[in-house]
Amino acid sequence: MVPGRVIIPTATMKGVILAAGKGTRLYPVTKAVPKPLLPIANRLTLEYAFDRLKECGIHDVCLVVGENEPQMRDALGDGGAHGISLSYVRQVEPKGLAHAVGFAKDFVAGDDFVLYLGDAIYSEGFEAHVARFREAGCANLNLVKPVEDPRRFGVANVDGERIVKLVEKPQEPESNLAMAGMYVFGPQIWDVLPGLQPSGRGEYEITDAIQTLVSNGETVLAGVYTGDWFDTGTLDSFLDTTRYLIDGGTLVGSGTEVVAELGENVVVGDGARVDRAVRIEDSVILPGARVSVSGTVRHCLLGGDVTVEGDLVGAIRYGDLE
Ligand code: G1P
Repeated sequence: MVPGRVIIPTATMKGVILAAGKGTRLYPVTKAVPKPLLPIANRLTLEYAFDRLKECGIHDVCLVVGENEPQMRDALGDGGAHGISLSYVRQVEPKGLAHAVGFAKDFVAGDDFVLYLGDAIYSEGFEAHVARFREAGCANLNLVKPVEDPRRFGVANVDGERIVKLVEKPQEPESNLAMAGMYVFGPQIWDVLPGLQPSGRGEYEITDAIQTLVSNGETVLAGVYTGDWFDTGTLDSFLDTTRYLIDGGTLVGSGTEVVAELGENVVVGDGARVDRAVRIEDSVILPGARVSVSGTVRHCLLGGDVTVEGDLVGAIRYGDLE
């Protein structure tokens, strides 16, 4: 052995993606298309997650699904088309992230795993953070990122690279480091889940599970993410993420017919038809949509059969779905 050389153990690492949410903030589109399957820059939202996990050498992935299970299985099957092996477990009721991850315990079977929140999109990989977790031999490492308003997130207090305290959505944050939707766990997590109590919002919080690891004296690390991190869950964030992915331009799929003038940040999905509109800007027309608007379409996410007299601004529409 070379003196001083660090041997990094390469135990099996699995992936767990939480994809059971209803995506209510994008209703009614997400009543028709489950949020994890919503095309963003003409790729399924989850394909970005698969890519990030594969970069870390993870090919064995479990999707925690909910009522969307049939559509998810139909669309993704055994994962072979995406170069991964996919398993599915069903979270019967939406009771929080720590509750959701509990359903993946048999799949993980004592291995280390990356937990990925299904609506997150990252501009760069996080292999270095997974490598750091392995090298440190810790119980858990969490991606964190400085943000302007941490009150919407789990917030980490750190001492060097160690997390010493975690609070979910604090009114008065003690740091600007938000928990950024990617977590690496060893098997210690399974010991703390059964003891969790529901939070003020009635959910079993992953943040509370990790705080329990900290309180138990486990080594819990923060990995500061230097890339861009997007959550695609609202109209504004969906369009912002799109803007980032297509560099603000236009992306028009195959088999489309569009009569409108296309401005900045426009995606038209495969087979979509816009047979009447003056101009489209900052909007996503989903695959197969039929759009007929007599004015301008701006800041919209549209699918199904949408007909409007006048302008359509800031709308989320899916045909006749309410
Ligand atoms: C969840 C976590 C929170 C984390 C956030 C990242 O919040 O509870 O700690 O910072 O994801 O997106 P939620 O989206 O459930 O409000």
